[in-house]
Amino acid sequence: MTHIPVLLAEVLHMLAPQSREVILDGTFGGGGYARALLEAAPCTLWALDRDADAIARGAALAAEFPGRLHLIEGRFGDMMALLVERGVALLDGVVLDLGVSSFQIDTPGRGFSFRFDGPLDMRMGQSGPTAADLVNTLAEAELADLIWEFGEERFSRRVARAIVKARTETPFTTTLQLAEVIRRSVPRDPSGIHGATRSFQALRISVNNELGEIERALGQAMQLLAPGGRLVIVSFHSLEDRLVKRAFQKASGRTPNTSRHDPSMLMAPRVAAPFHLLTPRSIRPGAAETAANPRARSAHLRALQRLPESRAA
Ligand SMILES: C[S@@+](CC[C@H](N)C(=O)[O-])C[C@H]1O[C@@H](n2cnc3c(N)ncnc32)[C@H](O)[C@@H]1O
Repeated sequence: MTHIPVLLAEVLHMLAPQSREVILDGTFGGGGYARALLEAAPCTLWALDRDADAIARGAALAAEFPGRLHLIEGRFGDMMALLVERGVALLDGVVLDLGVSSFQIDTPGRGFSFRFDGPLDMRMGQSGPTAADLVNTLAEAELADLIWEFGEERFSRRVARAIVKARTETPFTTTLQLAEVIRRSVPRDPSGIHGATRSFQALRISVNNELGEIERALGQAMQLLAPGGRLVIVSFHSLEDRLVKRAFQKASGRTPNTSRHDPSMLMAPRVAAPFHLLTPRSIRPGAAETAANPRARSAHLRALQRLPESRAA
């Protein structure tokens, strides 16, 4: 089993690691970005992952680059505290490669996929409620809202109704059991995607509080960046990408949806933004990459740089 890093060349180009720089990889995963960064320049790399298995696998890479790769089991939403308590207060680069790794999705026991049967878990870390806990206990309306909001599933009400009906007979324990109930509750998708795809995405996002983690990480990463430092984020669905896009626009002084005919804009003081948007449009994988790695299909890369003179003394 392996994880093919997505948009690796583009991530390296945007992060452009230099000798003696200090960089954070907030989503170590299979270590694909980490290895490339360590090989690209004699930099120091801090790497986080909330998944203990990912951190354990990383020990071999740390041994290959003695003293240069520091692995921490933890969430990127806590990056500030995790780094500061280790004496790191400034970074030259931060990269986040959002979502799940192939190791997670392809391991039946982790319960992320309905391609094979497994316990209905979906937790990237080891604490908190599982997907089974959510589907077995949430009220029907709460389930429908969750599936609508995080899965963008138009048939969320039907799905929630079917789940609640089924669980009164047998509580959900496995991925295939849930996938089958959901599939039968929605019309066949003309594009051929499995009827449970959106609902599974919604449950995964909710179980791991994925959007909350991104919101918490964005401010902290920007705060940690040294002058000239780069923040690079690869996201895999529109909910994630929207958060990143808006935060980057705001930080770089681009206010979305404001009209130049709005008189309040003429009155607004012009304060120099502390960041420069390196990607006015997101970078997408090319046809060759998506053919070789279908997981790359939905990727969007966005990058931001702290301006050299923008940090208060
Ligand atoms: C797409 S993979 C990263 C792959 C990596 N870039 C590589 O090249 O191998 C995402 C990883 O981020 C981790 N992750 C997701 N959300 C996280 C969070 N909030 N804090 C820490 N790690 C997280 C997952 O456990 C997973 O291992």
